[in-house]
Amino acid sequence: MESLNYDFVVLGSGIAGLTFALEAAAHGKVLVLCKSALSETNTAYAQGGIAAVLSNIDSFEQHVQDTLTAGAGLCDETAVRFMVERAPESIKWLQQQSVQFDTAPDETIALGLEGGHCQHRIAHVKDHTGLSIQQALSKSAFQNPNITIAEYHLGIDLLTQSINQEKVCYGVQALDLVSGNYKAILAKAIVLATGASGQVYQYTTNPTIATGDGLAMAHRAGATIRNMEFFQFHPTALYNPTSKDTFLISEALRGAGAELVLPDGTAFMQLYHPLGSLAPRDIVARAVYEQMNLHHSPCLYLDATRLPEGRLQKSFPFIYTKCKSIGIDATLEFIPVVPAAHYQCGGLETDLHGQTSISGLYAVGEVACTGVHGANRLASNSLLEGVEFGRAAATHASENAKQRFSCFKSIVYSLADTCSDALISEIKADLQALMWEHAGIVRTTEGLTIAKEKLAELKYKLEQCHTFSVAVQELQNMLTTAELIVQACLARTQSIGGHYLANEPTKTEMQFPENIAAACL
Ligand code: FAD
Ligand code: SIN
Repeated sequence: MESLNYDFVVLGSGIAGLTFALEAAAHGKVLVLCKSALSETNTAYAQGGIAAVLSNIDSFEQHVQDTLTAGAGLCDETAVRFMVERAPESIKWLQQQSVQFDTAPDETIALGLEGGHCQHRIAHVKDHTGLSIQQALSKSAFQNPNITIAEYHLGIDLLTQSINQEKVCYGVQALDLVSGNYKAILAKAIVLATGASGQVYQYTTNPTIATGDGLAMAHRAGATIRNMEFFQFHPTALYNPTSKDTFLISEALRGAGAELVLPDGTAFMQLYHPLGSLAPRDIVARAVYEQMNLHHSPCLYLDATRLPEGRLQKSFPFIYTKCKSIGIDATLEFIPVVPAAHYQCGGLETDLHGQTSISGLYAVGEVACTGVHGANRLASNSLLEGVEFGRAAATHASENAKQRFSCFKSIVYSLADTCSDALISEIKADLQALMWEHAGIVRTTEGLTIAKEKLAELKYKLEQCHTFSVAVQELQNMLTTAELIVQACLARTQSIGGHYLANEPTKTEMQFPENIAAACL
């Protein structure tokens, strides 16, 4: 097996991985691995924008409080303050990387509004903020002589050793998906920036790369993982039964004045929360889910016809065009919407510098649990977290990079094909349906117990395959992630934030104190 040496190896080419790489490149040689094309990331699909205090009627304190409120009291306040106070600096850093945020007539950054925010504080590039960030960072990374990019390289497992009772990570084993060669990549710091795991659910806004690989790898290596019960569901994915892919209808559209309505056009969100359609995301997602069930309707609707003339086309061109492509003129008709799994709030436990519980191993972006999201993430705090903690981890790793270890265990994978594609697809579909039904927007202890048993059966079925392929590896990682979600859900016996137990609904009712709601109105 080929062995390569770098100062830093980063798994993942989204906002978190590329930010780390660009910052660390000033201190050494960086290899960025990604299992697909460089730009195929969740980052590239982000629409609404990135939150930061950029206006003089806003304050760090308000952004902190909005974040803590959305997180239902389970955020790490130190981490939240760390992120919020550095946010304006990170926006400047993104501008230096050539991200061109939309501007207001006075040339300052134009600020949008999203759910749970008391102020307009969302910097954006129309409704394709993520794509613009991805393109800018990718270009900078390609141009940087200290960064090597290895597309179509699947990270399989971390290389670790126990030294004086301390677990140390010194590399990663990867498969070059083009040549079929296995590689051991050794580095002073190993960075997981592998993103999300939305693919464990039947309906998700996440692209197909989001299979929880980094999380599962780190779990196998013994890293500490937390808050996996807090999977966030977005209330407004486009309802389009003719397509397998789920397209997001950004919350920013509600921020601009669109309203959630029932099939007969009646607005209903005020019944659930004083902030109506702009209430925190978990509340809106549950309300949509409940109203769909009450009305036996496969979807609800977003009324964007009330936006001023021309606004939809100008500020939300992606959404307008997508709707048009399936025969909906959103300036004249309601947009059909459904909730979908969107964001993994939990992940690998890290400190403020992205360090995990394993020495030499860092985690940044959605795979990490820095403590900033608590039980439910505030809209547009995710891109922010990726860039903030990507930068902080790069600074720390550059200062603290340890010596390399040279010995590594060479794992040989058999490519013997004893597992049919049909069987893999069947196990995957069963997993996704199981998670949607029993570990989705509304859960019960009974349903979660069923999910736990069924997951063990699916795992056993896959183990009989004795095959190594990308699909099998990803499915194993998805099963591991699903198990971690279900275990965490069962351990949390009270509803809070994004974790809603129909049999124990108590705490959710307390999560948005009246005084804070009043302050926002
Ligand atoms: P990603 O951008 O997902 O990158 C993951 C990378 O890891 C990819 O390069 C992938 O190839 C690589 N990878 C994964 N597994 C492996 C492996 N085994 N080996 C090698 N490489 C691997 N957040 C906001 O703040 N604002 C928004 O407006 C917003 N809108 C969103 C809209 C949509 C539709 C979605 C899905 C999410 C949105 N989010 C938004 C959330 C946000 O986009 C993500 O949380 C964020 O982009 C995650 O960035 P990341 O760098 O952690 O991971
Ligand atoms: C959106 O644009 O609605 C998504 C924002 C987010 O996930 O933060």
